[in-house]
Amino acid sequence: MTSNTPQPVTFKPSGPLSGKISVPGDKSISHRALILSTLAIGKSRITGLLEGEDVLATADALRAMGARIEKKDDVWTVHGVGVGGLIQPENALDMGNSGTSARLLMGLVASHGITTTFTGDASLSKRPMGRVIEPLSRMGADIQARETSDHKACMPLTVRGICPAIPLEYRLPVASAQVKSAILLAGLNTPGITRIIEPVLTRDHSETMLRGFGADIQVETDADDCRIISLTGEAELKPQKIKVPGDPSSAAFMVVAALIVPGSDIVIENVGINPTRTGLFDVLRDMGGDIRFAKKRTVGGEPVADIHVRHSALTGIDVPAKIAPSMIDEFPILFIAAAMANGQTITSGLHELRVKESDRLSQMAKGLELLGVKLTEKEDGLTIEGSGGKTLSGGKAKAMIETALDHRIAMSFAIAGLVTKSGLAIDDITPTQTSFPGFENLLATLAS
Ligand code: S3P
Repeated sequence: MTSNTPQPVTFKPSGPLSGKISVPGDKSISHRALILSTLAIGKSRITGLLEGEDVLATADALRAMGARIEKKDDVWTVHGVGVGGLIQPENALDMGNSGTSARLLMGLVASHGITTTFTGDASLSKRPMGRVIEPLSRMGADIQARETSDHKACMPLTVRGICPAIPLEYRLPVASAQVKSAILLAGLNTPGITRIIEPVLTRDHSETMLRGFGADIQVETDADDCRIISLTGEAELKPQKIKVPGDPSSAAFMVVAALIVPGSDIVIENVGINPTRTGLFDVLRDMGGDIRFAKKRTVGGEPVADIHVRHSALTGIDVPAKIAPSMIDEFPILFIAAAMANGQTITSGLHELRVKESDRLSQMAKGLELLGVKLTEKEDGLTIEGSGGKTLSGGKAKAMIETALDHRIAMSFAIAGLVTKSGLAIDDITPTQTSFPGFENLLATLAS
């Protein structure tokens, strides 16, 4: 056994959680802050940046393409090269586990006259890249990807960018902020108007931040309720000072922990509450969760609040499929809340969960079954019978949860461990480093 072999970690039943905490910076906003700062001419300053592996992969890739990125105390400084100023990296860019790094940076490279190979870990190498290859190819980039036995285009792949690229008008066939952002980033160095038609609203951090950096970007809604996003290239971006708020997707684990562990009462300070991200909190409130937003304010164009959560008796509900995009990363932890609720929780419209860091419907179903939870797995969702607040059994044999290189599977079951009879072992907790460094310590703080 090498020292790199992951060791199982057991999460034990917990007494009431209490205290005031803050969670690491928002992952989506952190990626975008580094990328847009690289494309500005001059020096940007970022505080609150998530220092998780995913964001560090983006920073390394941007350095390899010419940006100078430094950290001193809590401040990250990016000396940007300007739109059009990227240089060809000497080696392949390793995206690790990060789909956001891969897809956004592919967009960036597509409209620069450089050639770049992207690689990733075993999880990322299985994820579909055709969704970005297709629009970026229409803009003129030449992208060669590995083809899987079921004819999917996956990493490793090589993007040969083109300059000038051809402006694109594109209707998003899949509700994906990564695809939208890849096209917008390509559009920055493309003469003319790049237009995206977005039938289903997804997180809008790229649009907000592009406006903040001085890009000419217009967002309208048409008669069919589609968002039309128009970006004029070639853009000139001005350096900014950015404060990254806490990540609601990380806060989500602590929120559910407080809701399901009896007697809990916690506050999570400085969390982003952009409505394109807060679907989980709405669903949990509909289930009876006592979740309040206090001290609402706006920081760098993004709404932020302190979140106050108290233990609550939850009731299962039928989760409307249309809320999925605003909580797409939160279904694993919602399933844990559902397992503790009274009655049935029904979810649907979740095909996208099968192509995240793991097949999250299948991984969550397997793990919950080990815990004795009754459920039905459908192609596009899970239906879960809740325990009505009773502790979860841990199954016949000692349950060992398989995380499949998926941070959110690991953290969801870590929270479930708090409400088991005798604890729950997880095969590998290291994936939490991708988005939530310090997860275990912060949880321990709340429990102590
Ligand atoms: C993200 C978009 C979402 C989300 C991911 C981060 C982003 O992915 O799951 O964690 O920062 O744009 P999709 O675009 O695949 O929905």
